[in-house]
Amino acid sequence: MTQTTFLPIVLAAGLGTRMRSTLPKVLHPVGQLPMVGHVLKALRNAGAERAAVVVGPQMEALEQLVAEVLPGSTCHVQTERLGTAHATLAAAPAMEAGADEIMVLYGDCPLVQPETIKEVRAQLAAGSDVVVVGFEAENPHGYGRLLVSDGQLTAIREEKDASEAERKVTLCNSGIMAFKGTLALELLKSIGNDNAQGEYYLPDAVELANARGLKVSTVSTDEEEVQGVNNRLQLSDCEAVFQRRCREAAMLNGVTLLAPETVFFSHDTLIEQDVVVEQNVVFGPGVTVKSGAFIRAFSHFEGAVVGEASTVGPYARLRPGADLSANSHIGNFVEIKKATIGEGAKVNHLSYIGDAHVGAKSNIGAGTITCNYDGFGKHLTEIGAGSFVGSNSTLVAPLKLGDGVYVAAGSVVTKEVTDNSLVIGRAGQVEKTGRADLLRARFKAAKEKASGK
Ligand code: UD1
Ligand code: CA
Repeated sequence: MTQTTFLPIVLAAGLGTRMRSTLPKVLHPVGQLPMVGHVLKALRNAGAERAAVVVGPQMEALEQLVAEVLPGSTCHVQTERLGTAHATLAAAPAMEAGADEIMVLYGDCPLVQPETIKEVRAQLAAGSDVVVVGFEAENPHGYGRLLVSDGQLTAIREEKDASEAERKVTLCNSGIMAFKGTLALELLKSIGNDNAQGEYYLPDAVELANARGLKVSTVSTDEEEVQGVNNRLQLSDCEAVFQRRCREAAMLNGVTLLAPETVFFSHDTLIEQDVVVEQNVVFGPGVTVKSGAFIRAFSHFEGAVVGEASTVGPYARLRPGADLSANSHIGNFVEIKKATIGEGAKVNHLSYIGDAHVGAKSNIGAGTITCNYDGFGKHLTEIGAGSFVGSNSTLVAPLKLGDGVYVAAGSVVTKEVTDNSLVIGRAGQVEKTGRADLLRARFKAAKEKASGK
């Protein structure tokens, strides 16, 4: 059996003027991933191995993202923005190489699901020449309208070109359109720009396909899935939908969210079964929380791993490279960066642990700071297993503390400490009996003299 070749084309060259931003529109993130990255991910999950992405000039960051999310893809620069059909033709070299199925998607519709993409492909496989994804719009303003007669999609009319009657139609064009591979280029090249905006409209392919007697069909989906982003209000709408989907998926996978609407996920957050997440927690990119962990309120995570049955927070901050083994405890106002925390180790209060290894079952007292930075470089602090670091200790890196070490509270430790040693790095205590009374008498006299009594 020969495999069907599938070529998705993602349009992403638009400037997104209404975003009022120096960042290209499709690079604005939803769930910490640029919008176009979501489209590419959905394509990958629907079996695509590559895409042809139409970009604007000088969009290097976009080209890099494409290479990361769907390697093997190609980018094609559209220098003048003359409309969606013109944009699609920028990918002509990819189409000329031949593909059985060609599908156009817009990079500013980040909520599209793999199932819809698969359904469109299935309709092509079942004999349609052109397939359009449509939806019932609550407010169709601004969308192209699907004109259907006798069950056949005959044309798509843009808002600006539509008659009074056509504007009443609520069945709208999502922007996702697919073609039998052999037909796409010829149809696209025959699209003109004789319309209200003087643009080459991709949706005009439908009328042209009808004129050639081709089979045009539709797939319908929810408005939510194909909602596009033209400004930052719509961006926040998409973010809200994305977050809701993440919360639902997490809960259905066995995660308890005490106040789901206050927990925020990244596109790649992985949370295992029987994790409990309290209120107001933010998961940035690259976070894994293993089973049975307990995440307390107001904690913030980025690039971190939380081991099985560990507790974190309230008010903890785990930054990139924080790697907690099982049963560890990270408490309030603790910041961990690029540090491994051994099994059963505790850092319970007000500490900064950065560029460090903390051995299993060690206890790091309140207010302990690893001084990892000297203004030029970052240095490592290694603490062995079963060690006890007293409160308010300052560990000046590079530094090594062995296993079973005791650090007296308030120490400044600058030199290596061997296994099972007690280290005291602070001024010794001095007591002068009765001197407190003498001191008070002296201060009182000085004050009275100054005020002239
Ligand atoms: C388009 C459709 C409309 C549909 C709506 C769905 C056309 C003419 N109209 O309208 O039927 O209901 O989407 O959201 O296609 N782009 C380029 N180069 C260009 C023009 C656009 O790359 O020259 C890209 C944009 O970056 C964007 C996408 O194409 O990702 C859609 O363009 P946009 O201008 O937003 O089209 P709409 O007016 O929303
Ligand atoms: Ca749009």
